[in-house]
Amino acid sequence: MATLRLGDPAPGFTADTTDGPIDFLAWKRGAWAVFFSHPADYTPVCTTELGASARLADEFERRNTKMIALSVDSIEDHRGWAPDIGDVGGTDLNFPIVADPDREIAVAYDMIHPGEGDTSTVRSVFVIDPADTIRLILVYPKSVGRNFAEILRVVDALQMTDRAPVATPADWVPGQRLIASAGLSIDEVNAQFVNVEEVKPYLRFVDAPSEKG
Ligand code: BEZ
Repeated sequence: MATLRLGDPAPGFTADTTDGPIDFLAWKRGAWAVFFSHPADYTPVCTTELGASARLADEFERRNTKMIALSVDSIEDHRGWAPDIGDVGGTDLNFPIVADPDREIAVAYDMIHPGEGDTSTVRSVFVIDPADTIRLILVYPKSVGRNFAEILRVVDALQMTDRAPVATPADWVPGQRLIASAGLSIDEVNAQFVNVEEVKPYLRFVDAPSEKG
């Protein structure tokens, strides 16, 4: 198995999920996807994570982004555990969890890291764009729950950098200033953006393109 990297095509798969059988790439067709693994059902950190992600589902949907989780547990365990997610997190599970008891999908996505204890999945996150290209990979240890607001922020940043020749500075959130692409000359930056601030020849802050009057 080759390690997946940014820019690689997302491996397709078919699987049983809490929403029924899916063909992953057909299920996400035309949309972004956040595909993330958790170590096990009926565990405390995972229960809080699935609750936190369910609470943000509307925000992801507004960004044409579908969420889907995975663990190596059975579909029966997923179905038995799902009500706990709503009980604990306050929002019912509102996206599918993939059952991967034979670990084929987890292996294809390199979600099992033997140094992390056992043969269950670590906390991997893949953001996959509408062309089925992997755009972000995050890997967290089993003991550390993820920040789903950060994953939402990255989706915003990726979608912004796809719309215009820009990059996003540290800690950027929508509404803040952007960095013009390094490949643009200062004349090109001035022609394409307003409110250009050349802090360094390689660091040109600009307003988001939609803000041009
Ligand atoms: C948890 O979700 O709490 C957890 C699962 C596996 C290992 C460590 C923590």
